[in-house]
Amino acid sequence: MQTGDVAQEHLSDGMAGACLDAEEPSSAADTRFARDVAAGLTASRKRIPCVYLYDARGSRLFEHITRLPEYYLTRAESEIILDGAAEIASGPRGPVQVVELGSGTSVKTITLLQALLEARGSVTYLPIDVCGDALAQSASHIRAAVPGIAVRPVEARYREGLERIDGDGETMLLWLGSSIGNLDRDDAASFLGDLRERLSPGDRMLIGIDLAKDARALEAAYNDSAGVTAEFNLNLLVRINRELGGDFDVDRFRHVAVWNDDAGRVEMYIESRSDQTVPIEALGIAVSFVPGERIHTENSHKYTRGEIENLARRAGLSIERQWVDSEGLFSLQSFRVDGG
Ligand code: AVJ
Repeated sequence: MQTGDVAQEHLSDGMAGACLDAEEPSSAADTRFARDVAAGLTASRKRIPCVYLYDARGSRLFEHITRLPEYYLTRAESEIILDGAAEIASGPRGPVQVVELGSGTSVKTITLLQALLEARGSVTYLPIDVCGDALAQSASHIRAAVPGIAVRPVEARYREGLERIDGDGETMLLWLGSSIGNLDRDDAASFLGDLRERLSPGDRMLIGIDLAKDARALEAAYNDSAGVTAEFNLNLLVRINRELGGDFDVDRFRHVAVWNDDAGRVEMYIESRSDQTVPIEALGIAVSFVPGERIHTENSHKYTRGEIENLARRAGLSIERQWVDSEGLFSLQSFRVDGG
């Protein structure tokens, strides 16, 4: 499997999961979701790819997560971008195209686009997303919020979308929110290397990466006191019930988020509270759980400064600049594609 596909499968934002399914035919058992759930729940270590967390309800719950006191990531990245916008956007006057992986409507994206428009005079925004609905929403939102900008939505997977982009002028690729953390370190390096090959010397990537920190703060960020992250995670079972005729009793499971120090990542699981067997009608299977047995649903890798340097080196990029928020929690890097 090519790295771009790996990335897309793990990292699609917003409604991507629902959209992937919408492309597929008729019966519930034929969808990509059905196949991945069947494979993941019959494996010896149960797992479901994190892309499926984002159905319509999951996307709403994630939005809520970004505003929780414990979930510092969005707040810290917004601070960096709001404070640094003029500097991040600075450069010679002339056209810039901003390619965003996933379609943004956030204040972060809008702030950057406004600053670029002011500094450079001409900006085209090209969000790449597999989900047409999310793209259309993003496009009209950005057009209204940033008058004077050209918006060209690209409905595609990341790799394919980048191939379609051929405008002139400098390209700035945006990948915010530490979505890169869903990939393991090898996949992250090869995916960035892959992106680099699609850009030209002098182009930049602006990548948000969450920093390693003490386990308690990390576990709190992924297991908030209001229980929103728990609902977000357990929503996978709700989705299986609705879309695949599953019979999960959500109260018989619990949300678990643990820091794995060896791997340098937060791992999310759905854990069975009891001995139980759950039929999933559309898949024609019944899945048994022993008490404490887990379904792995997401990884969120955290990086030290040294690991970010490694990542850049392995991807063939130079770190042009790095910004960190005032509390030292989160980083934004400008990786430059060197001439050759
Ligand atoms: C959207 C992948 C960046 O890993 O922090 C938030 C997803 N999962 N809380 C993250 C998530 C649980 C989030 N990313």
